[in-house]
Amino acid sequence: MNGPRLTVTADLAALGAAAADDVLARAASAIASRGRFAIALSGGSTPQPLYERLAASPWRDRTDWSRWHVFWSDERLVPADDPCSNQRLAQQALLGHVPIPAAQIHRVPIDAGPPEVVAAAYEGELRASFLLDDGSLPRFDLILLGLGSDGHTASLFPGAPALDERRRLVVATPPGSLPPAVDRVTFTLPVLNAARAIVFLVSGADKAEALRRVLAGDQSLPAARVQPTDGELHWLVDQAARGR
Ligand code: 6PG
Repeated sequence: MNGPRLTVTADLAALGAAAADDVLARAASAIASRGRFAIALSGGSTPQPLYERLAASPWRDRTDWSRWHVFWSDERLVPADDPCSNQRLAQQALLGHVPIPAAQIHRVPIDAGPPEVVAAAYEGELRASFLLDDGSLPRFDLILLGLGSDGHTASLFPGAPALDERRRLVVATPPGSLPPAVDRVTFTLPVLNAARAIVFLVSGADKAEALRRVLAGDQSLPAARVQPTDGELHWLVDQAARGR
């Protein structure tokens, strides 16, 4: 595996533009090779300019949306219309504007029951969509991730037991130290590290220290443990996050 690729953009808007080009290129390659593009969207607010650009012309006309399969790398267990919902942001900024078949938008079943039930149900959705037998891992074409100022990614928080999970694909996690303080479900590290490509989107000076430590390999930070086994790792960050 090559070392991580680092791209620094002037600001968040430029980050969204660079990310849109990157995502569309990966979609074209996946669709050409395998007939579908399996992507997991990240949570948080950073991806918003990416989503808005993908939904706008000419970018929206540059991919075959009917080949996209959309998942989320994690979700907060809040109502779908809650401002904290990761699915809500993606729906409003992208999914409500492009013709991805509804059956190929694999939403986290937040109403399935307690967090452990939601996690098990979403794991079942993953296994069914990737035709997985027990013990095998889904291989996403692209997983988008963000970075918390505490070094978390997805909903894998520093010191959390979820970081040691090696069998399950999706687990329930209690709130981390950063808001929103809500229960979540998250992909586990084996799922993240099985991806063909991981792209981190990081913006803002408040992420600079965590980014510096992650890029230096500080394994106490969950994001530093995202190391695709056989895939690309691309850090797309703005100048403020790079801190130079
Ligand atoms: C979550 C996210 C989380 C997010 C980072 C960055 O649900 O909390 O998946 O990992 O990506 O906290 O969030 P911002 O983009 O809002 O800074």
